[in-house]
Amino acid sequence: MDKPSLVVVGTGIRIIGQLTTESAAWIQIADRVLYLVHDPVADEIIRQMNSRAEPLAGHFAEGKSRKESLDEIVAHVMDSVRGGAQTCFALYGHPGVYASIGHEAIRQARAPGYTARMLPAISAEACLFADLGLDPGASGCQSYETKDFLVNGRRADPSSLLILWQVGIMGNPLYQGHARQPETLPVLIERLLEDYAPDHEVIAYEAAVHFDGEPRIERVALGQLAGIRLSATSTLCVPPSRPPRPAAKMCERLGLPLPVAPKS
Ligand SMILES: C[S@@+](CC[C@H](N)C(=O)[O-])C[C@H]1O[C@@H](n2cnc3c(N)ncnc32)[C@H](O)[C@@H]1O
Repeated sequence: MDKPSLVVVGTGIRIIGQLTTESAAWIQIADRVLYLVHDPVADEIIRQMNSRAEPLAGHFAEGKSRKESLDEIVAHVMDSVRGGAQTCFALYGHPGVYASIGHEAIRQARAPGYTARMLPAISAEACLFADLGLDPGASGCQSYETKDFLVNGRRADPSSLLILWQVGIMGNPLYQGHARQPETLPVLIERLLEDYAPDHEVIAYEAAVHFDGEPRIERVALGQLAGIRLSATSTLCVPPSRPPRPAAKMCERLGLPLPVAPKS
């Protein structure tokens, strides 16, 4: 890529094992590497790969607005690009999945004509499918940021898998270093109870961030969800509660037999 330019990479959820060789190469050769990761192992590995790598975590502070911090981070990345550097912006997970700053940095870099591109990476959702043994193709998959799900009145289809991101911070606009149970959790439970029974099993999921670690998988009845610990890295998985209802007329139009509902 030309100089100056921007490449946005993801380190995966577990840098050991999930960092692609392509992303690793950019971390190693870029003039400047600006990174935001959550665990000390990833931090250490990135610094070993490029001794000039600069952490961006300092933009966050207890009680500071997340949006302000995220805007500052994009501005920091853009200063590097404008300053003439071939810049690598590294984020944990997939840099463009529930990570608006990856896309925003690309947009701001391309606007005045810089070369900018994003590389794919392993997201929390990819880990979830593997750890929970779920195939999104089996029932379809609905995936929402929790606040978006609530505020925009999204309707869940209970015949399809539902994944709720950021359930542990649920609309809290302020950064908090230590996990606290979201005060709005009862609102989410009440909302889900409109479509699911109180005894329907939901799963609070945290992928392991170390290659020899274990994921935290907590299965609980929806009505009991308030009793479990959620963190900033929790993702809520709501498996389907009923089979789909095949559309007879559509099957007829397509010349297909009506699917037989799987036995539950
Ligand atoms: C700002 S998003 C970043 C997602 C990230 N870009 C990715 O590709 O997974 C943060 C949310 O991702 C999910 N997440 C992050 N780390 C996770 C982990 N270790 N296990 C499960 N979910 C995780 C949680 O829903 C968390 O609130």
